[in-house]
Amino acid sequence: MLRVHELCKAFREGTKQGRVHAVDKVSFTVEEGAFFTLLGPSGCGKTTTLRCIAGLERPDSGEILVDDRVLFSGSGGVFVQPNQRNIGMVFQSYAIWPHMNVFDNVAFPLRVGGRKVGKAEIRNRVEQALSVVELGHLAGRFATKLSGGQQQRLALARALVIQPSLLLLDEPLSNLDAKLRESLRFELKRLQREQGITTVYVTHDQSEALSMSNSIAVMQEGTISQVGDPFSVYLAPENSFVADFVGSTNFIEGEVVGPAGDEWQVMTGHGVLHVGKIVGVDTGDQCVVSIRPEHIEVLKNGARQGPNVLTGEVRTRLFTGEAMDYQISFEHGELRCRTPAAVRLSSGKPVTVHLPASLCAALRKS
Ligand SMILES: Nc1ncnc2c1ncn2[C@@H]1O[C@H](COP(=O)(O)OP(=O)(O)O)[C@@H](O)[C@H]1O
Ligand SMILES: [Mg+2]
Repeated sequence: MLRVHELCKAFREGTKQGRVHAVDKVSFTVEEGAFFTLLGPSGCGKTTTLRCIAGLERPDSGEILVDDRVLFSGSGGVFVQPNQRNIGMVFQSYAIWPHMNVFDNVAFPLRVGGRKVGKAEIRNRVEQALSVVELGHLAGRFATKLSGGQQQRLALARALVIQPSLLLLDEPLSNLDAKLRESLRFELKRLQREQGITTVYVTHDQSEALSMSNSIAVMQEGTISQVGDPFSVYLAPENSFVADFVGSTNFIEGEVVGPAGDEWQVMTGHGVLHVGKIVGVDTGDQCVVSIRPEHIEVLKNGARQGPNVLTGEVRTRLFTGEAMDYQISFEHGELRCRTPAAVRLSSGKPVTVHLPASLCAALRKS
């Protein structure tokens, strides 16, 4: 449905001659009706990518196509004006019109920009868009009298009223408080599914990305580091950047020794560790072994011997409500370990842990 091919956009950096490669050969495809997320830290090029798709930014090179219609082509010299792209967009700061009521805010895009929409048609479409976001009963209220969550739904209605073929959402929830943010996640996801509208969502919040997306592209410094469904991005990160950014993880530096049956052996400060797989590295390469805190098993002392069993000492313990976060120190470094809240270990006490090989991966450092 949407195809972005080798998109590039650089900015001049202040008064200096240097250029920032905000988006550097980014390619991805979004299927019809899918919820696709660009996830990455601040400054990695998410907003610039979205603005290029919307036509608010003119890319340096590459191609952007929607349903085989070329919206931008560097080599072909094509640039379709933003108001000719039929794309709806919602920003982090939702920019509603404070001097207008809810109805007029939503009607605004239909009244400007040369769209010839009749009065009755405007009424129909505005009412429909407002009912989709469940604001129909507030049509006459001034926009500034709405709560934060309602204002954000209003911004969404305004994006939907033009019946866009593509919806672009740039951190639309990040100005809201935590509780509201979580409930709006469900809302947004339900709405997107019911309307079947192809959506590109931008966020730096990994749990938002994991919970709402069909597909996630993790971005790092203007490039895409990995694309996949939420499960594969979380459970099978392809490099240390993705493993670290999506969820939290432990890294143990090492060198790949070689295969051992179905597993691989890695020489580390903790001795030889067995890992279920290697990604982007081979025998003899430097790597990091990644294991998530919740995958580390706490053992009763002496309950198990063999590879990947380490004994250390509990350094600190943090109770987070639903879990217990432990920092455990070993002769060669520390590991973080998350257990159910019922597991109580005392600081300063020895503890034995097991790193299940199937949940350990040796990754390329990135
Ligand atoms: N108009 C601009 N002029 C100069 N630099 C910009 C401009 N817009 C973005 N940048 C730079 O491009 C990079 C990517 O920015 P952006 O796309 O906003 O990242 P994100 O949305 O992921 O936080 C950053 O280094 C940013 O400072
Ligand atoms: Mg941004």
